[in-house]
Amino acid sequence: MKQIAILGSTGSIGQSSLSILEEYPDRFAIASLAAGRNVDAAFDQCLRWRPRVVSLATAELADTLALRLREAGVTGIEVLHGAAGTVQVATLPEVDFVISAIVGVAGLEATYAAILAGKPVGLANKEAMVAAGEILTAAARERNVPLLPIDSEHNAIHQAMRAGEKREISRIWLTASGGPFRSLPLQDFDHITVEQALKHPTWVMGRRITIDSATMLNKGLEIIEACRLFDLPPSAVKVTVHPQSTVHSLVEYIDGSILAQISVTDMRLPILYALSYPERLPSKLTFDMAALGRLDFSPPDFARFPCLRLAYEAAERGGAHCIALNAADEVAVEAFLERAIPFPGIPRTIEDVLQATPESHPATIQEVLALDAQARDLAREVVAKTPTRSQPALHRR
Ligand SMILES: NC(=O)c1ccc[n+]([C@@H]2O[C@H](COP(=O)([O-])OP(=O)(O)OC[C@H]3O[C@@H](n4cnc5c(N)ncnc54)[C@H](OP(=O)(O)O)[C@@H]3O)[C@@H](O)[C@H]2O)c1
Repeated sequence: MKQIAILGSTGSIGQSSLSILEEYPDRFAIASLAAGRNVDAAFDQCLRWRPRVVSLATAELADTLALRLREAGVTGIEVLHGAAGTVQVATLPEVDFVISAIVGVAGLEATYAAILAGKPVGLANKEAMVAAGEILTAAARERNVPLLPIDSEHNAIHQAMRAGEKREISRIWLTASGGPFRSLPLQDFDHITVEQALKHPTWVMGRRITIDSATMLNKGLEIIEACRLFDLPPSAVKVTVHPQSTVHSLVEYIDGSILAQISVTDMRLPILYALSYPERLPSKLTFDMAALGRLDFSPPDFARFPCLRLAYEAAERGGAHCIALNAADEVAVEAFLERAIPFPGIPRTIEDVLQATPESHPATIQEVLALDAQARDLAREVVAKTPTRSQPALHRR
């Protein structure tokens, strides 16, 4: 019986993880859960899964949850809070596997702590890998701790890489759905609404990743994540737009063979793969080959999606530039969701912050978090100066 810790249990990936765990009661059990602010969902998960430890973002929320559990007559669950609580959830001695699915850098410290404690990690939290991938992967390699990608593209690459040796790979291809604005005329981008941007054509996900898919910054983060996870230069990580999201990614070998991974568009499959690796478990997540119509692939449009160019540039420079890319995007996405900046304000904010970021390569998680905070301050200043609608004159230039 594998004892599992889930960081971000109330989110989209957290809930998909619990849903797949339901199917294998003889193989997996929940040891601990960490969430942010959703007390109702955390309470329901405590009733269903009876973790030994649960943590929420603040002391106040933790007190509310503890009181509700007491009132419901539930005992034996320790309720913690804050970053220290999340670290404890990830490093409990009985935990055999950690699912890292907190959104943003809030999940970074606990993911690092899990690696230092020798826990295999199923990694969905791509922002942690973008901000501190050099440190996380070095720590994992040193301790021989498996880092198993849950992001569907990287999971597909991980699977296709089992067919050959690392030195036999010439490049990898990350597939991208292209998001909801793949074919929207460029002049309409200023008028994109929050509601339109939150409608992803093929995946149902959390709010930040959904907006990141619409700007294609999500693919940009994945380029950096892939470089770090698979130890590849940015020039060996390519993007192809594949609107059906059926081929989850491809590995191209030096002899010209390209291996693709195809499966249902359901995050429970990569989660199951990571949980059971190196075994494969039978599942009901089968793909209907008979229903497969067509598969389209085309190159990405860098003019329409400047976030892709910005991500490649940050990937080349590494260190502070990757941290700034992610931090500036998080601030800009929040501002867009609050209708404080227009959709094209997201890449503009990132570009301004990257330009003002000096070259540096942090060696510790504390340094990463300090650079992250600086980039956020800078991004807030840029956002404050951004008009809610781009000026028409500016747009025509
Ligand atoms: N969704 C997908 O299909 C998908 C696919 C690939 C990769 N990913 C990656 O997986 C991660 C999670 O994505 P998601 O879509 O599941 O996001 P989501 O639905 O927004 O969930 C985020 C989770 O993080 C928790 N959280 C936020 N701030 C926290 C804090 N300070 N302390 C502890 N927990 C905190 C949230 O808790 P509350 O809700 O309780 O506040 C929630 O459980 C992201 O890095 C994303 O890029 C997601």
